[in-house]
Amino acid sequence: MSESINIWQLASEIKFWIAAAAENVKAHLHDDLQVETKSNRNDLVTNVDKLTEKHLVGEIRRAYPKARIVGEEGFGDQVDDLAGLVFFVDPIDGTMNFVKEKENFAIMIGAYLDGIGLVGVIMDVVAGNIFWGGPELGVYKNELALPKPQNLNLADGLLGVSGPLLRKDVRHMATAVGQSSGARIIGSAGIEFTKVLQGIENGYVSHLMPWDFAAGKVMAETLGLLVTDIDGNPLSMLSSKIVLIGTERTHAQIVALQQQD
Ligand code: IPD
Ligand code: CA
Ligand code: CA
Ligand code: CA
Repeated sequence: MSESINIWQLASEIKFWIAAAAENVKAHLHDDLQVETKSNRNDLVTNVDKLTEKHLVGEIRRAYPKARIVGEEGFGDQVDDLAGLVFFVDPIDGTMNFVKEKENFAIMIGAYLDGIGLVGVIMDVVAGNIFWGGPELGVYKNELALPKPQNLNLADGLLGVSGPLLRKDVRHMATAVGQSSGARIIGSAGIEFTKVLQGIENGYVSHLMPWDFAAGKVMAETLGLLVTDIDGNPLSMLSSKIVLIGTERTHAQIVALQQQD
């Protein structure tokens, strides 16, 4: 299958699907949403999450009928291995923000071939910015190529973190935040990834599923950032982990905090 994939075309297709989905989501932004809870009262899904995933899965299946799809809301396939072309779809990343803030949420797709990232796309829907790229493409914010972020120390920049990890001081997060210039809790892994890609934050830590980090990981690694679990081990694209993304120095400093245990 690999010979037949044109990576520039794949990136264009994913961007086109996501941009169209974003227009549709914006059209429903002020609707009365059907909101359901999933694992707990802060874990939400809406009719728009479901509709968006269904639509994106349909586009992927039409263009790449042999590919398999891992979708957060269950419209994809049961995927137990990474052979061939696999798409990871998060139809709305930051559903709580979508419901409460009406901004700071993203649509994300990552495309992997035999477990290797080819293309990642994250769209900040309300800001209208699309971040896209991969190892053979470079990384772009809209049409602008992004440079590699400076290799900043933890002490010299902002650290993105999820609320629950900071609140419960999981894995020395309070210490890490204390050593940084300050914590940022945005509530969307995708938007946090775009901050690190741009050098606005020099790290981000959150407990994530593969669809939360698939797109961001491809782009972050292309820009020389490190994306691992909190102990510095490689991530599996088939399981959830506390994920650490950072500049080389920030990453090493947060991993070192874990080794004090
Ligand atoms: C969530 C957001 C949040 C992160 C959670 C994710 P969702 O994604 O990215 O920032 O801390 O772990 O589940 O459920 O809104 O797609
Ligand atoms: Ca969710
Ligand atoms: Ca998500
Ligand atoms: Ca989601």
